Amino acid sequence: MKPLVFTLCLLPLAWLGWAGMNDGLGANPIEFLIRTLGDWALRMLLVALAVTPMRQLTGWGWIGRLRRMLGLFAFAYALLHVAAWIGVDQFLDWGTIGREIAKRRYILVGMSAFVILIALASTSTNGMIRRLGGRRWRLLHKSVYAAGILASLHYLMMVKVDIRPPLGHIVILALLLGWRVIKALPAPTPSGRR
Ligand code: HEM
Repeated sequence: MKPLVFTLCLLPLAWLGWAGMNDGLGANPIEFLIRTLGDWALRMLLVALAVTPMRQLTGWGWIGRLRRMLGLFAFAYALLHVAAWIGVDQFLDWGTIGREIAKRRYILVGMSAFVILIALASTSTNGMIRRLGGRRWRLLHKSVYAAGILASLHYLMMVKVDIRPPLGHIVILALLLGWRVIKALPAPTPSGRR
């Protein structure tokens, strides 16, 4: 499964590369590039968050082994999204970048999500799990929920007209996080009380 999922996760990037080389990025190619990379970063994050509920619903233990790869793909797409904004949109002009961050709150929210993703990606190796210890590592990796919330909020805040697409992502995120909350509740006793 891993090579297949790896290839599938690369398809949006391959398509972007192909479209870029064939003049297929539309009238505003920079905006299209940044938005498409952002979309895929968020989608990958949601798919990574869907792994645990899927495993619990289906009993397919092997799905769990895809989670790290999906999370790293979310990080990779977010990294490309941010790099495209800094390099292609802002031309590495750090003064303008600073002013944009100060002016647009949605960028600050996106940055917060990105900082969390950096922390998660850099501690995703087996060596880091050992070094941090399972309990601390799991606690740190719970911040993926905050990354999901911040990234969805970043999307919602930047949209000016049609808020349905970001709301759709927020509903999916709410279902994925709600599932975890329900699972964490104590099991009801035979009398029906929790
Ligand atoms: C330093 C961090 C980040 C910066 C500077 C940033 C910047 C931006 C900018 C400038 C846009 C709007 C582009 C436009 O106006 O056309 C945007 C949109 C977006 N970003 Fe980010 N972003 C960051 C982090 C993230 C992260 C971590 C995610 C997801 C995991 C993400 C997902 C999105 C999405 C989904 C959109 C909307 C795409 C659409 O309109 O379809 N961003 N971001």
